[in-house]
Amino acid sequence: MRNFFNLFICTFYLIPTSVQALPYQGSEIVFSAADHQAVQSGQKIAELGGNVVDVAVAIVFSMSVTCPTFAALGGGGFALVRIGKMTEAIDFRERAPQAAGPDYFSKKKAGASITGGAAVGVPGIPAGLYELHKKYGKLPWSRLLDDAILLANKGFRVSGELHDDTKSNMTRFNGPARKIFLKNSIDPYLPGQVLKQKELGRLLSEMRNRNIISFYKGAAAKDIVESVAKQGGDITLKDLADYQVVWRKPLISEVAGHKLYLMPPPSSGGLVMQAAFKLLEKTKISAAPLRSTEELHWLTEVLKRAFARRTLIADPDHFSVPVDLITSDASINELAKNMNGEKASMPDIKLTSTDKESAQTTHLSVLDKYGNAVAMTITLNGSFGSAVATEKYGIMLNNEMDDFTTRPNEPNMFQLIQGEGNQVAPGKRPLSSMSPTLVEKDGKVVMALGAPGGPRIISSVFQTLYRVLIRNMSLESAIEAPRVHHQFHPNKVFVDDDRMAHELLVGLKLKGHFVEPSWLGRVFAVRNVNGILEGVVDTRAEGAARGF
Ligand code: DON
Repeated sequence: MRNFFNLFICTFYLIPTSVQALPYQGSEIVFSAADHQAVQSGQKIAELGGNVVDVAVAIVFSMSVTCPTFAALGGGGFALVRIGKMTEAIDFRERAPQAAGPDYFSKKKAGASITGGAAVGVPGIPAGLYELHKKYGKLPWSRLLDDAILLANKGFRVSGELHDDTKSNMTRFNGPARKIFLKNSIDPYLPGQVLKQKELGRLLSEMRNRNIISFYKGAAAKDIVESVAKQGGDITLKDLADYQVVWRKPLISEVAGHKLYLMPPPSSGGLVMQAAFKLLEKTKISAAPLRSTEELHWLTEVLKRAFARRTLIADPDHFSVPVDLITSDASINELAKNMNGEKASMPDIKLTSTDKESAQTTHLSVLDKYGNAVAMTITLNGSFGSAVATEKYGIMLNNEMDDFTTRPNEPNMFQLIQGEGNQVAPGKRPLSSMSPTLVEKDGKVVMALGAPGGPRIISSVFQTLYRVLIRNMSLESAIEAPRVHHQFHPNKVFVDDDRMAHELLVGLKLKGHFVEPSWLGRVFAVRNVNGILEGVVDTRAEGAARGF
């Protein structure tokens, strides 16, 4: 019936829609994340009386088993958390090891920031989960790991997405990763086959009993150091022991009667989105019909300008971010000068940034009826990160070092040429696009969202917010609607593969846009609509929403 309905819509409005994700509804607590088995772990914790933080932590622990591509413990992330009246950002981004300075990668072989030990930043996920739970969790820490331990020891059924990701990355795998993620060390597990990770199960059990001591100061720390060294990296025991999360103040914006809480630097997400919403006010987008060429044109013009100054952002603990140059009225006016509804135009400023990111990050959102919420984005950066898995515990390690300006004026893994402020320095965090976001109305958080997708995260979250808050679309329609992405350089508008009607593509080209079909971010969001809680999963990828 739904397919028939979609066909109906396609025929009459010429908008190809894929299967629409209906929201999962509840009245106490809902959550949305990339893996149904991990969401089930969250459900158990919620049923036991866990709060939004407990649910988020349990989901990530289970995903660290079921989604080694993007949620392994060897990664990092950010979260915005609202408990009671308090809204905070927790930054558990990876850090550069002490041995790494601005010329670190010029002395290494090509590709060293992508595959192998030098690509690995000091992981932050275990510390992030632990500190978050210590401050705001309700159930005992140990309970949050039970499901993950079972999934690791007894195994879980491999998803189609994990199969595909394994297949496309297996040539990058070192010894341990081959042993763990390939059947008989040869072939990727097929969808539906059972994958066990006994070594990881052992680590999770140690973490269950002694929190994160093993990871940062014990046997797992030693395992990470040795495994990274064998693959040409320089992380030391001291780097791990010194790892610290940072609690930060979220950026705040007012949009259509709502208060947005946005991720501050070292993410570029919040500042770029603040610029985007200010630029949106300079357009006539409200007069453009939904999903029309005119609407997509304005969104493209806004996004390219908002991204134009992203290279001025970096780790605020190492670099003074010129916030005014990015979001002040004067700056926005300058960017908006030649923006018009007729033709595509570029803002008249110089910059050197191009980008094309692939998938391997994830986001989860949790919201309860009181407005307590967690929006958390975690990443290994590329698919399976550095492709280094540790020998004794099978921890998949990130390649977040590639998010730094690794070689001046040379594009990184995603063809991104980054700014000077983002050069490597000991202990520094690389610039990110991750944008966990909370939305408050009348003093209560009513929505939490975020996405994977590198810079496409920002355009995905921005367009979802625009559609829900300004155009009053339902959350699921807003997420499913075709999106555009433009990041200033390259001068291309990336359009949602498969979802754009031919007429829209032609319309954008006629306005002078260089159009390229592409994958876009995948939004995981939850919302309170007049007391009904909704969890929505983007049908662009796997995922599930639950709650009650
Ligand atoms: O922090 C960042 O911006 C990137 N490491 C995120 C990479 C990413 O989202 C890729 N996933 N789809």
